[in-house]
Amino acid sequence: MAAPTSGAARVLVASNRGPVTYTVGDDGTLHARRGGGGLVSGLSAIGPEADALWVCSALGDGDREAVRRGVGEPGVRMLDIPADVHADAYNGIANSVLWFVHHMLYQTPLEPVFDAGFRRQWAAYEAYNRAFAEALAAEAAEGAAVLVQDYHLALVPGMLRALRPDLRIGHFSHTPWAPPEYFRMLPDDIAGQLLRGMLGADRLGFLTGRWADAFRACCEAFVPGGTGDTAIGVHGLGADADFLRRRSHEPDVAERMAVLREQIGGAERRTIVRVDRTELSKNIVRGLLAYRELLAGYPEWRERVVHVAFAYPSRQDLAVYRAYMAEVRRLAAEINAEYGTEGWTPVLLHLEDDFARSLAAYRLADVALVNPIRDGMNLVAKEVPVVSDGGCALVLSREAGAWEELGEDAVGVNPYDVSATAEALRVGLEMSVGERGERTKRLAAAGTALPPARWFLDQLDALRA
Ligand code: F6P
Repeated sequence: MAAPTSGAARVLVASNRGPVTYTVGDDGTLHARRGGGGLVSGLSAIGPEADALWVCSALGDGDREAVRRGVGEPGVRMLDIPADVHADAYNGIANSVLWFVHHMLYQTPLEPVFDAGFRRQWAAYEAYNRAFAEALAAEAAEGAAVLVQDYHLALVPGMLRALRPDLRIGHFSHTPWAPPEYFRMLPDDIAGQLLRGMLGADRLGFLTGRWADAFRACCEAFVPGGTGDTAIGVHGLGADADFLRRRSHEPDVAERMAVLREQIGGAERRTIVRVDRTELSKNIVRGLLAYRELLAGYPEWRERVVHVAFAYPSRQDLAVYRAYMAEVRRLAAEINAEYGTEGWTPVLLHLEDDFARSLAAYRLADVALVNPIRDGMNLVAKEVPVVSDGGCALVLSREAGAWEELGEDAVGVNPYDVSATAEALRVGLEMSVGERGERTKRLAAAGTALPPARWFLDQLDALRA
């Protein structure tokens, strides 16, 4: 990516989390770690001559230190938003309110509580959105295209429109959108501000028709004039087949496959694999309960199957996420204590993030369990069929965005129905190798229909049209 000078960027991306993070080593040197994902592939696809700029937030002390030392990647501008403002905006509003609303996660007898503390955090969310809008306004060339990402930055389109009416502004939601009956839980003025903020964009993108419809319904219910002139599009982000096939055959993945095989034990043993960030919406606990019911109800599967569960830490600043992770650990240990034998550990739980090991598990999976309560898309459901060596049955929640594209060849589950999930796991385990193979081929084709680079370019073209 080229590094445009201020006021010269022709394509801008804005997101809370950027493509690089920094840590400070013991000797004071800065170490950069580059991330992947759809936006990274998309921006590399537009080529170096495009004058592209990615505006993101400094997230930790390492990032802040990098900004202060003037260290950075070409084409990336990190905003040093004060840590307390960022914490209130990100942990307080984005992760504890907006994420909960769109994924419908509240236990409503006691939450949410919209009080004076909430109003203080909301002011931080506004300030954080304003910092992005001002940076984008300063960096964008006349008529540039700006692609704003996610619920963290819902107010940016409206703020940026006021500062720079010449720009083409898009916004993309990587989450579900809440239906009006749930969205109306927000205080009226906040609900209106969020919707009007989004509608400052020329075009809004969603992962599925279902989330786009929910957004339209919220606008019709709460904004005079509904969605007005703002266009709405659906772009179902797919997995990156070329990258996954290449990466999953590198030596470090083979090494991890050998270790996993050893841990699973017994060449005939089947595997039920899940890989998630330990995110409240991923429903890992009910997945474990379903596996326990499978072992209880179908004793013939004892010793013959291992549940390989990778639950990587996420948002550990939030107590409710830490408690959830502890519950995952507790339940896995309980199942192992209840059913484990000398040579068989029923649940193989790993908590340290290791991409190569995730790919190794994808390759070995007989059944992939993807049972979120609600999920914007869920790329794991699309990635496993691409990488799987021998074909794998996909047990998939009908509440995942991926259900719209993969539902036909998956074994569907209501994510709240633990017994039905246990039954779906059994169906997956007992599916014939031939049928599994056929379904896996179709799932891989559907899951890679819109690769990340195309996903990004389609949005850019539509925004400019
Ligand atoms: O998966 C949905 C999503 O909104 C992604 O777009 C985004 O990267 C992520 O969740 C946010 O997670 P985090 O809080 O770890 O940055």
